[in-house]
Amino acid sequence: MSMRTSIHGQWSSRWIFILAATGSAVGLGNIWRFPYLTGENGGGAFVLVYLLCVIMMGIPIMMAEILLGRRGRKSPINTMETLAAEEGLNPNWRFLGWLGVLAGFIILSYYSVIAGWTIAFIFKTGMGDFVGANAEQTTTIFSELISSPGILLFWHSIFMFITIRVVSRGVSGGLERAVKFLMPALFVLLLVMVGYAMSTEKFLDGLKYLFIPDFNSLAEKNLFSDVFLPALGQAFFSLSIGMGAIMIYGSYLSKDSSITSNCFVIAIADTSVAILAGIAIFPIVFTYGLDPSDGPGLIFISLPIAFGQMPFGTFFGCLFFILLMFAAWTSSISLLEPAVTWLVESKKMSRIKASYIAGFIAWLLGVLTALSFNYWAFEFSFAGAIKQNGLFDIFDILTSNIMLPLGGVLVAIFTSWLMSRKSTVDELGLGDSIAYKIWRFTIRYIAPIGVLIIFLNTMGFFNIFSINN
Ligand code: PHE
Repeated sequence: MSMRTSIHGQWSSRWIFILAATGSAVGLGNIWRFPYLTGENGGGAFVLVYLLCVIMMGIPIMMAEILLGRRGRKSPINTMETLAAEEGLNPNWRFLGWLGVLAGFIILSYYSVIAGWTIAFIFKTGMGDFVGANAEQTTTIFSELISSPGILLFWHSIFMFITIRVVSRGVSGGLERAVKFLMPALFVLLLVMVGYAMSTEKFLDGLKYLFIPDFNSLAEKNLFSDVFLPALGQAFFSLSIGMGAIMIYGSYLSKDSSITSNCFVIAIADTSVAILAGIAIFPIVFTYGLDPSDGPGLIFISLPIAFGQMPFGTFFGCLFFILLMFAAWTSSISLLEPAVTWLVESKKMSRIKASYIAGFIAWLLGVLTALSFNYWAFEFSFAGAIKQNGLFDIFDILTSNIMLPLGGVLVAIFTSWLMSRKSTVDELGLGDSIAYKIWRFTIRYIAPIGVLIIFLNTMGFFNIFSINN
């Protein structure tokens, strides 16, 4: 086992690591992205494939990423370079770190804009804008927001600033305190929302939509590009894997903590939040006649109707968006951290300067996203599907559907094919048990082959599995 420690700090306990990693995993991905992708890509079938991706690729790759991080104890770029050297491999493996840093910038840039919507909604719900509102009214309020570039840029800037602030002080301090009570509070509030959803007329329809795959509704779709690829991307996005975020958090983990059990706790927490969000949202969507495939605005037009109807709705609504903002915050921190640690290590910058520089680059990129809902909105088609939000969709597809799975598979290949078996046995602490063998088998074969098949089919290489052609 490696005896190195990180120059950037160490979590004060195993639970703090779990909370921080869960803080990274749970965010807009679960509550905003999961429901709208489920609605766009066929409901239950999407959820099923998503769950399979989490179990068969997500968890094993997360274990591999933490293992690498903890062994290397540096920024993902330098970790990859150091470990490659130790294993007698090509130092160009550091480009895997670069791929992650790049993905992190792009994700953070649009993530911050969406987090900005959340902040705007704290005020809208707090001021009672949604009291008694119907679907048409909430849709109008949301459309007005996204068509005002000035307001989007304002909240985007505020959110990026608070992200930079935490990162500039070192994650172990600020983050530890924030996650300890905010994560559980968000969980409880989601339960309240599920409680409301149970009281709506179409509760069972919502559940059916989420959990029972309706293969007829897939007849018009290409299984790979419309269901498998987005589900794969969502699994990576939601678990924060494939770009070094979990790797850098792993680098602050003490060497006596079990990677395997930590990963299960994180993945279960992450997945339950997404599923709860789905259970809370779809009954509302159906009861009030909204369209599940409404796209990125789905939670912003459906949940406010509920807040406008339920007892103490203004209070719960305001609290909900506050907690969602915090959840986004604890994720955005982990998106910035890999780039910042690299600047500190390799460019000898102070953490403060590094955070502001990296954050500024992400902020600039984010301006493009803020404008892609109004001035620069354009439509394009990707693998046969029409996308309406120009650069935002391009950034989103490029990162979650391509860069993260690619990064994740390279991590899998590095750890299971190239690193010596002894190094991974040492680091994982499972001995040579059956659990270790299952893990190694999944990342050696299932993850790379699964991603390859999905990629090739999406590109139309052999469309033998799709339903319609
Ligand atoms: N997992 C985060 C979410 O679900 C987003 C994220 C992706 C964070 C990749 C870090 C790395 O909101």
